[in-house]
Amino acid sequence: MNSIPGRTDMSVTLLLLFLTLPMVSSHELRRRRSVAPFLGSGGSNSKAMLIPKNLWHCGSDGFTSDYSYSVVEESCPTLAAAINHCCAIHDDCYGQQFPREMCDQDFCKCTKDVTRLPTAESTRCRPFMEKEACLAIEFGGFFAYLFSNYSDPSSPSNNDLVVLDNTPESDYMNLYSMCPFANITLASCAVNFNLCSSVHSVDFCAADLCHCTMDAADTDVLHNDTCLPAVTHTCRAVLSHSSRVLASQNTRNLFIIVLSVLTIVSLGFVGIYMFTKSKGSSKMMEEGKYLQIHTVESARSVNPLLTNTD
Ligand SMILES: *[C@@H]1O[C@H](CO)[C@@H](O)[C@H](O)[C@H]1NC(C)=O
Ligand SMILES: *[C@@H]1O[C@H](CO)[C@@H](O)[C@H](O)[C@H]1NC(C)=O
Ligand SMILES: *[C@@H]1O[C@H](CO)[C@@H](O)[C@H](O)[C@H]1NC(C)=O
Repeated sequence: MNSIPGRTDMSVTLLLLFLTLPMVSSHELRRRRSVAPFLGSGGSNSKAMLIPKNLWHCGSDGFTSDYSYSVVEESCPTLAAAINHCCAIHDDCYGQQFPREMCDQDFCKCTKDVTRLPTAESTRCRPFMEKEACLAIEFGGFFAYLFSNYSDPSSPSNNDLVVLDNTPESDYMNLYSMCPFANITLASCAVNFNLCSSVHSVDFCAADLCHCTMDAADTDVLHNDTCLPAVTHTCRAVLSHSSRVLASQNTRNLFIIVLSVLTIVSLGFVGIYMFTKSKGSSKMMEEGKYLQIHTVESARSVNPLLTNTD
């Protein structure tokens, strides 16, 4: 008797699990993507350090910042933009005074994702990120957290505001006043996008930029009424810019293909013409000795006047 309600309980639990698992796992996926949206795509062609010092956000003071910069420059420069993004998110997390433990855990997860792939650079940087950087933040983040408070006008985010290269219609500068508590993350999104679009086509980077900025907007809950609409507007502009670029690239490619086909075909015709001409002329040369006589003969036969002139 008792086993029946127990069983229904279990099946209800199972059903709930079934219903919630996909949500949880898709949330996980989304989250993984968002903490490090570009995952180093910006630097795949470069060996040099990708981030200038003034845009570097790792480290809480001059010394730790210099130190982390030199380690990354030395060991994994092509991951610099992605690692720097983890630090940017962490800065804004502190600035908004979200629970410190959550900010720190997100940071460690972010850098773990960035150094996940089994490349030489990841392998070199992973131990530093996993041990030194995470520990430094855990033990050294106390004062940084204490002194970060975006709600207090006397401690602003104080970062360089970066805009998107070559897409003035994106209105990116506007985002900083619409999402004032995500300034550092938004600047890092722009840096990543600019690096990405310097080595890839814009359409390759546009979707990542939108995920990056929309994730940033999700964190600025205090300004959700202004921030998300502004980010959506910017995203629309970037995506339509990117599809215009793609369309013009396609037109150009089509033009090049048509031009090449035409060139090949006309070269082919020229070749055939030359071939038949050279064949014809050698035949003519062969027949040349008879030809003259023959023509004169035939001319005579055709035109009786010629015969009379003799
Ligand atoms: C941050 O600053 C605001 C405004 O000055 C203040 O009300 C708030 O208590 C501060 N938060 C913390 C955690 O210090
Ligand atoms: C972010 O930048 C905007 C635009 O310059 C500024 O008004 C805002 O105060 C900044 N946010 C913080 C937290 O400093
Ligand atoms: C913004 O957040 C507040 C409180 O979290 C919520 O009540 C409001 O509906 C949100 N606005 C938008 C546009 O999402």
